[in-house]
Amino acid sequence: MKYPKSEQYDKQFLLENMMGPNALKILEELTEGIKLTSDMKILDLGCGKGLTSIFLAKEFGVQVYATDLWITAAENFERFKKLGLEDRIIPIHANALDLPYAENYFDAVISVDSYHYFGNTPEFMDTKLAPYIKPNGIIALAFPGFKKDYHNNLPSELLISWGAEDLDTFHSCKWWHELLSQSQTINIESISELKCMEEAWQDWLECDEEHAINDRASMNAGAGKYMNLIAIKAKKL
Ligand SMILES: C[S@@+](CC[C@H](N)C(=O)[O-])C[C@H]1O[C@@H](n2cnc3c(N)ncnc32)[C@H](O)[C@@H]1O
Repeated sequence: MKYPKSEQYDKQFLLENMMGPNALKILEELTEGIKLTSDMKILDLGCGKGLTSIFLAKEFGVQVYATDLWITAAENFERFKKLGLEDRIIPIHANALDLPYAENYFDAVISVDSYHYFGNTPEFMDTKLAPYIKPNGIIALAFPGFKKDYHNNLPSELLISWGAEDLDTFHSCKWWHELLSQSQTINIESISELKCMEEAWQDWLECDEEHAINDRASMNAGAGKYMNLIAIKAKKL
């Protein structure tokens, strides 16, 4: 697959700021067919070091609320300022379980490689996230998962890098469909596997970062055959 937008970004900058599989390629594929216009306010939930926020601001001209828990707003602000994007991207330090926003505020929520950490309960979407999205607003989520449910018999290749607790956040498309079908506030449009899985992981494994080095050992042992990248597209009712 080609990623004409993602490939324009400086590779060294990406390697320094990645926190998992290449978030730009994931986002480029996730946003295919989604209309984002410059008058929109977007919640980038679990934005990490803000790579996806930068991409959204630059490629679509939208206003982004770059929201994350592990990375401080101050750190992200410095990064956005260096790129001259401080007027377009607002860094916020917050927990997805307790967001500090007004109801019906966002035209869209986009979340790459983080929803699986906090969105895996039946009530999260309806009580913690959907209230902040406008009616008919866009929900686009992408994160790692399992091809099938392996929780009763976790493959040893996966356990090289991840503990059983980490793998608790990995589920199949079917599992996510069953969970989100319980929502009273969204309409699921599609749940599918992204095509960029292999390429996005290869890019991450090039990073000289402790987690990437551990993941490299798992992936080299064949863990990738059990994994996918899941894309969920939905609309707020
Ligand atoms: C693997 S990193 C991915 C970061 C970024 N989206 C990317 O792809 O580069 C997962 C991110 O999820 C965020 N996260 C996890 N739990 C969260 C929570 N409860 N509220 C907000 N963010 C959370 C972390 O702060 C972390 O930056």
